[in-house]
Amino acid sequence: MHYFRHKNGELHAEEVPASELAENYGTPLFVYSKRTLERHYKAYEKAFSKVPNIICFALKANSNGAILRTFGRLGGGADIVSGGELQRALMAGIDPKKIVYAGVGKTEDEIRLALKKRILMFNVESDQELVEINRVASSMRTKAPIALRVNPDIDPKTHPYISTGMKKHKFGIPIEDALDHYMVAKDLKNIEVVGVHKHIGSQITEVTPFVDSLNRVILLIKILKDNGINIRYLDIGGGLGIRYDSEEPPLPSDLASRLLPVLRGNDLTVIIEPGRSLVGNAGIFLTKVLYTKEGEDRTFVIVDGGMNDLIRPTLYSAYHAIEPVMKSRRKKVRTDVVGPICESGDFLGKDRMLPNPLRDDLLAVFSAGAYGFTMSSNYNSRPRPAEVMVDGKDHYLIRKRETFNDLIKGEADR
Ligand code: LLP
Repeated sequence: MHYFRHKNGELHAEEVPASELAENYGTPLFVYSKRTLERHYKAYEKAFSKVPNIICFALKANSNGAILRTFGRLGGGADIVSGGELQRALMAGIDPKKIVYAGVGKTEDEIRLALKKRILMFNVESDQELVEINRVASSMRTKAPIALRVNPDIDPKTHPYISTGMKKHKFGIPIEDALDHYMVAKDLKNIEVVGVHKHIGSQITEVTPFVDSLNRVILLIKILKDNGINIRYLDIGGGLGIRYDSEEPPLPSDLASRLLPVLRGNDLTVIIEPGRSLVGNAGIFLTKVLYTKEGEDRTFVIVDGGMNDLIRPTLYSAYHAIEPVMKSRRKKVRTDVVGPICESGDFLGKDRMLPNPLRDDLLAVFSAGAYGFTMSSNYNSRPRPAEVMVDGKDHYLIRKRETFNDLIKGEADR
């Protein structure tokens, strides 16, 4: 559920008409609803309240400071995958004791920074990484708290590019070898084994893969216990899908009701790493029609937002609903909504029936809050869009539109 609705014929973000936002901040524009962000966070909080838990928002989905502070104020932690994300999380006031650090390629500098800041744990993805973390920790005369990321070999039945928990993927270590790796970790002097981590993929719309993979991990935790390794933190990853089109993904409460019976009574703190399900439907992308042009069997609607701003349609053939900001009775026509970039793959939506769009119309691209701005680029030397937060009747800039100077910043002039 989100707070983007048509009222009196015009799309509103909470109480604010979308056209007012476009006028104030220009287009293309990312617009977030604070009430939606809070609502989604609280849904997780309530769903998992019966077990000790930490909700670690996956920063990769959206790392704007205002969004991080919104979750931070509600008690949220962070799932990070780089030194940059670590610094963003800390800057937003997130408690380091609620930060978990995943990713297959942590560098020495990043490890050092995370140790210095005393994060909750490293989610370690390989033996070599484990040895490196041990070495860095030893040089700092400290101990590194770690979980091993295990790969439960479960098919999450999602897009191949965003599924991660199968044997063929680069992530984690195969669950059947986990005991051996844990025994190695246990004997490393500057490593403290505290957890197990798994994450099987993203945009998962069924509960079963979560349940199956959790069962495997719980079994592993029992085996570890029999071998003298006590696990305190069970990090079950993120991955809960959202509705882009007609999907009917489980709610956090559906997920919890199937997972809690397995989790309870294990004396574990559960860590959850949702990204998309917290922010995806809390954001829209507003774009303006520049031109229209008749193609052979459809109208090309050329808008001012492109694949550099929102790459999901291009990269994953992802569907994002597109609606005109102003409801209209114009005849519906078949359209491709395309950007200004010089690539055939530059589209936001294909084959969409829209009330005949005209120049200067505003279109809203939905479900753009996750992996939207964070995956944007400056391709074709396009400054990245502004980002705006709406809170009831109030709205404010949370990231300025880039300028030409931002584009050339850091470039040498020789
Ligand atoms: N934890 C780990 C270790 C992850 O790798 C991810 C996402 C998450 C949590 C958060 O997953 P979520 O709750 O958002 O599904 N760019 C792609 C999605 C890539 C997801 C990568 N990992 C997209 O736009 O669909």
